[in-house]
Amino acid sequence: MSLTELKQKAQGCTDCEIGKIRTELVFGEGNPESPLVLVGEGPGEEEDKTGRPFVGRAGKMLDQALADNGLSRDDVYICNTLKCRACEEGENGRKRNRPPTPAEVETCRQWLVPQLAAIAPKVILCIGAPSSKNLIRADFKITKERGQYFPCEYAKTAMATLHPAYVLRRSTTSFDGGYSLIVQDIGRAWEAALKLLEKDESV
Ligand code: URA
Repeated sequence: MSLTELKQKAQGCTDCEIGKIRTELVFGEGNPESPLVLVGEGPGEEEDKTGRPFVGRAGKMLDQALADNGLSRDDVYICNTLKCRACEEGENGRKRNRPPTPAEVETCRQWLVPQLAAIAPKVILCIGAPSSKNLIRADFKITKERGQYFPCEYAKTAMATLHPAYVLRRSTTSFDGGYSLIVQDIGRAWEAALKLLEKDESV
């Protein structure tokens, strides 16, 4: 199935509770021919409103980390573990984000797995823990194992990096919260993706 067909089908999905209350499904965007796919956790408030991945504060940081490597969103493909916003009732009737449940992650694999198969990237960069646990290993330890290459069923190799939302929570005036590690990991993942692409093309 093509990515366009898959997106259309996903837009009709109400297989879990968050699929029933979403504003927009956030399928993914960027260059589907790219050798590098970035997989985040799931949409937040801004993403749910716009239907686009990583457009809130965390997204701005991700854009900056791509730019610091001379890259833009058009060079990579960006999507999420969950296609709908995991949220619950907060104060003043406003919804607040919550971590995805294992059941939601499992249900949403019906979209993520064929999406990755259609793109067939050389490298997957998992952004944050839920993505790493879903695509690399269930007991993946993000702070210890980020920045390393791991085997992955859906690409030649996979790496994980810190989630920008985590970095934003930790950063202070004198500490970047781990931002430089995101920049470094994106750079290394991109380099590996280009090398693997070259290798395939030179055969
Ligand atoms: N965080 C994510 O993991 N994905 C988004 O799309 C936005 C914020």
